[in-house]
Amino acid sequence: MIEGKIEKIAGPLVVAAGMSKARMYDVAFVSDDRLIGEIIELKEDRASIQVYEETGGLKPGDPVYGTGEPLSVELGPGLLKAIYDGIQRPLDRVRDQVGDWITRGINIPGLDHEKRWEFTPSLAEGTEVGGGEILGTVPETELIEHKVMVPPDVSGEVTWVVEKGSYTIDETVARVRTEDRGEVELQMYHRWPVRKSRPIREKQAPDQPLSTGQRVIDTFFPVGKGGTACVPGPFGSGKTVIQHQLAKWADAEIVVYVGCGERGNEMTDVLQEFPELEDPKSGKPLILRTVLVANTSNMPVAAREASVYTGITIGEYFRDMGYSVALMADSTSRWAEAMREMSGRLEEMPGEEGYPAYLGTRIAEFYERAGKVLCVGEENRPGALSVVGAVSPPGGDLSDPVVQATLRVVKVFWSLQAELAYQRHFPAIGWLGSYSLYLDNLEDYYREEMGREWIDMRDRAMALLQEESNLQEIARLVGAESLSPEDQLILYTARSIREDYLHQNAFHEVDTYTSMEKQQAMLSVIMSTHEKMSEALKREVLPGTLFELPVREEISRMKYTSEEEVEKVENLKDKVSEQIRNVIEKAEAQRKGVAG
Ligand SMILES: Nc1ncnc2c1ncn2[C@@H]1O[C@H](COP(=O)(O)OP(=O)(O)O)[C@@H](O)[C@H]1O
Ligand SMILES: [Mg+2]
Repeated sequence: MIEGKIEKIAGPLVVAAGMSKARMYDVAFVSDDRLIGEIIELKEDRASIQVYEETGGLKPGDPVYGTGEPLSVELGPGLLKAIYDGIQRPLDRVRDQVGDWITRGINIPGLDHEKRWEFTPSLAEGTEVGGGEILGTVPETELIEHKVMVPPDVSGEVTWVVEKGSYTIDETVARVRTEDRGEVELQMYHRWPVRKSRPIREKQAPDQPLSTGQRVIDTFFPVGKGGTACVPGPFGSGKTVIQHQLAKWADAEIVVYVGCGERGNEMTDVLQEFPELEDPKSGKPLILRTVLVANTSNMPVAAREASVYTGITIGEYFRDMGYSVALMADSTSRWAEAMREMSGRLEEMPGEEGYPAYLGTRIAEFYERAGKVLCVGEENRPGALSVVGAVSPPGGDLSDPVVQATLRVVKVFWSLQAELAYQRHFPAIGWLGSYSLYLDNLEDYYREEMGREWIDMRDRAMALLQEESNLQEIARLVGAESLSPEDQLILYTARSIREDYLHQNAFHEVDTYTSMEKQQAMLSVIMSTHEKMSEALKREVLPGTLFELPVREEISRMKYTSEEEVEKVENLKDKVSEQIRNVIEKAEAQRKGVAG
């Protein structure tokens, strides 16, 4: 172990001398309390260490121990259901050990080393293996089978495999004869440095949507499985609710939720709420397929910096097993602010708004760890890691450096509008400002799964929303009454799209989730109504009579129709046709009456 001495303490940053043998990003224990820190700058024999715990009480001359190892996480059975802090300390076990909150110098491993797991080997002795190959399986939770893999950096011949049975993660379950390191013993877990992305065989373009059950997202701004999205918005505009909705409803097998709380009690809510959430697919607790990384605002700033790396490394690990993983980070601004604070303490040359010049690079490196991939190991094992980051710029200002750097790398932008939130139109995702760059990649999928009509319908609906905004401008100038009947119809339908379709209440038991099948049914009711009305206008029916059809009420309630009764939504189309036919007939009869 390298031993140095504290020279200077500046908040979460400690400078130690005598560290010439240390390397960047090595973990160091600071003082005899063994506070955990990470070396983030080296100059000659001086190491600057960001300390993940309160540094109060440290003094110059205190010892610093370099571990010679980078900040790493333990990857193996026991990750699911866990609630970690930013450096993978399990909050529940910390609490058991030291009471309510993390006291300093607590160094509890990320995984439980005493617990026994049922291990079933799946490789025979004599097999040639490479990194990523599946060594055996463990039923980690009722919902997820954990695939124990050969660590990425090990390859060779399996000389011995343990029998099926129950073991702790420290027990050796296989031995591999390697060329470079002789015989290597493998356990059910291995360690991986969080700042290094795990290797993959090949990255591919996402070609399936990550369905979320949120209509505005799935219909207009979908994210691909293995894709990236960001959701910037001002305080109170619904970022956290969206992230929670995705955690609950996105069709990923594994959820990694990284929370860097904005409000003091926000993470406490998450910690209490998440373990109680039900997985809609299985009816079992959602936490059985979830890993939580939580930084409350009373934790030191540096731990937030590490938390996104801890989260994404765990995400990559489950992806490597061949799962589809979704990672939510709320909010990445807190991470960037931690970076800014450390950079300031290092007296680096500040960039925009005081953020370090490497802000953009760090953000890009983070999102680049997302992807639809072929995993290392067995031929053609696909896996996906989708990443959705919330960004909370001051005042919701999109010119904020964190927003800008994020938009340069992510492919989906959900633009939250304060105005919409103020009108209680949720999700407050602006339909004119948002975009998804996956639509082209996903086109084949939609064509096959939902039919060409879906794509056409979606595009027509979006075109109507765009026309609405132009027409609203005109209507403001000349008054809505002076718009042509056709334009009035556009305003009518666009409003229906907004209110009956895009508006979605996350807290309503039915409305909270809408399957693609129901989305298609709902949108086609609205769009076929538009067409029928447009025909009626051609037959000189007055717009006013069309806009007050009795079926209007039912259209506004179709979002509350349960998934089991989707045909009721579909049947609305017939009702609409019938009522419009009646109106047309009445109008014609009247005209004939007048003419006769
Ligand atoms: N989809 C939604 N459905 C219903 N209410 C919502 C929805 N999204 C946001 N809200 C409301 O807005 C409030 C603020 O949302 P929140 O996600 O906490 O904002 P932010 O994280 O952007 O500060 C929520 O407490 C809730 O009342
Ligand atoms: Mg929030």
